[in-house]
Amino acid sequence: MGPAPNHEVERHAMNGKRVLLIVSGGIAAYKALELIRLLRRQGCGVTCVLTDNGGQFVTRLSLQALSESKVYSDLFSLTDESEMGHIQLSRAADLVVVAPATANILAKMASGLADDLASTVLLATDKPVLVAPAMNVRMWLHPATQANMATLAQRGVLVVPPNEGAMACNEFGPGRLAEPPEILAAIEQILAPAPGPLAGRHALVTSGPTHEPIDPVRYLANRSSGRQGHAIAAALADLGARVTLVCGPVTIADPPGVTVRHIESAREMLDACQSALPADIAVFAAAVADWRVDQAATGKIKKQPGVAPPGLTLVPNPDILATIAAAGPNRPRLVIGFAAETDDLMANAQSKLRRKNADWIVANDVSPETGIMGGMENAVNIVSADGIETWPRLAKDDVARRLARRIAEALA
Ligand SMILES: Cc1cc2nc3c(=O)[nH]c(=O)nc-3n(C[C@H](O)[C@H](O)[C@H](O)COP(=O)(O)O)c2cc1C
Repeated sequence: MGPAPNHEVERHAMNGKRVLLIVSGGIAAYKALELIRLLRRQGCGVTCVLTDNGGQFVTRLSLQALSESKVYSDLFSLTDESEMGHIQLSRAADLVVVAPATANILAKMASGLADDLASTVLLATDKPVLVAPAMNVRMWLHPATQANMATLAQRGVLVVPPNEGAMACNEFGPGRLAEPPEILAAIEQILAPAPGPLAGRHALVTSGPTHEPIDPVRYLANRSSGRQGHAIAAALADLGARVTLVCGPVTIADPPGVTVRHIESAREMLDACQSALPADIAVFAAAVADWRVDQAATGKIKKQPGVAPPGLTLVPNPDILATIAAAGPNRPRLVIGFAAETDDLMANAQSKLRRKNADWIVANDVSPETGIMGGMENAVNIVSADGIETWPRLAKDDVARRLARRIAEALA
């Protein structure tokens, strides 16, 4: 797993870093070959572990030829175990990458199974782990896979989310392996992060809706997709910040290179935010429920013939923005709230800025005809003590990048 020979290597930040690449049994395993080539060009040493099923899709010879390193598959190989024991294999790299990661290997990782070399290495490693899932859209969207991904993210496993697109199985949707250059970029962000303008800063971001229980099976929620908050977390990380994202229940993937805390209710969100402090920057993009049911039932409320529907008594939720923005030793230097309004946008945003002691409010009109709530675009106004800046309608990713740059300027 030594660095690549000099004739191939230009000067690269990842020169001399070591990646243990686990290739599992998906149709996209052939893309691992291109990933190895890209990593070697960057001067990265690559050692491959190929699962038995991965060997159905790509040969050991190809992996070995491109990585210029021995390929490991067998947990019980006497030779391999004496040369490079499986524990040592899990520790010798700077980063463990699983690409493609099958639904199967993700499930094994989530439940701590160690029944072959790849899963044993993953359980034994003390190094960061990055997974690039690839599978049929139904497999990816299956609640079991999504629950496994949530578990892994909670444990700090980093993810290059799958892309949406046409699949080998003639279906369409999320599940396609991210392209090798995208996986390479995620690896680079971990092994050789660019010293961006927010390097050394900690950013706390909230995203998504909250779910407020009515009983064990019902809840109050809203239409937030989490797209804007997730994009802001990713954009801040791209500028070098260490980012903690506290997010409510969403169906989109965790952004790579970000620590994600998954919560459900507003009270859990506040707890997670408080335990993430201190932070230099806090961006509250989540659509937190203003109210919760006073006493959520412990059993499912039954519909009974002739009995009127139950009345729900609502009580206010904690105000997360106002709590974190209140003056005190732990107040982040820059606190940014969001105001999603359907009426009197600017007046409401300006009032929110003052009432909640925020530094900026990102105000947007979420009337149904704008298509912003749950959509891919946003049209925002940045409201601060200096006045109002109106931005054009942009993709949520572009709003995020622009906001991250403004944050970096403000803290410079
Ligand atoms: C043609 C074919 C393509 C497959 N592609 C995928 C895939 O892209 N993603 C996936 O999760 N499983 C895929 N599978 C199923 C896995 O190979 C299977 O779940 C296997 O147990 C995975 O083993 P591993 O995780 O140990 O490599 C495919 C199976 C076949 C027959």
